[in-house]
Amino acid sequence: MQTVQIKEYSFVKYIDKVDVLSAIERLAKTITNDYKNNAEPPVLLVTLCGAMPFATYLSQSMELESHWAFVKCSSYGGGMASGDLTMTVEPTVSVKGRDVIVAEDIVDTGKTWLYLYNYCMAEGAKSVKMATLITKIDVYKGTLPIDYVAMELEDKFIVGFGLDYDHCGRHLSHIYHLKESK
Ligand code: IMP
Ligand code: MG
Repeated sequence: MQTVQIKEYSFVKYIDKVDVLSAIERLAKTITNDYKNNAEPPVLLVTLCGAMPFATYLSQSMELESHWAFVKCSSYGGGMASGDLTMTVEPTVSVKGRDVIVAEDIVDTGKTWLYLYNYCMAEGAKSVKMATLITKIDVYKGTLPIDYVAMELEDKFIVGFGLDYDHCGRHLSHIYHLKESK
């Protein structure tokens, strides 16, 4: 499918799932190398709902065990805007004393990443790193490093492979961008 309609918007195919999966496999190799000598498996803290497909394939491609946990942060913005953050599901596993890898679908402004980093450190995590499927070129203005990035894309609103517009489009296996977007 080259275009999909979600509510009032048309989206155009942008990144094929084959390229998404290869990018995740490359990232999994790096993460495996960085964590393979650790005494305890890292906690893969998956941000619901968007990071689910990414985290699933990432952990399957990593050649080491990871312990899964889930967290949900929501912003009041809705739609395509970013608003104030609140944690609606707390991490399902304690991160105290653990090496944590936060798995995100996309780090955009970095508000979510900063929030989760501070939360995990306050809970006594041993280390906290970010693994994200996507960042957008020149958008992130934060100071925290984004440790692991699978793909750096242009600044367009995207859906698919977990990413949504108003809860729709997460199931799409390819990544699509908004048609009106430059
Ligand atoms: P941040 O806190 O600004 O970094 O925003 C991260 C969250 O914004 C992501 O987890 C997504 O839910 C959402 N987001 C940012 N850009 C997009 C996009 O292009 N499509 C869909 N969701 C997005
Ligand atoms: Mg999200």
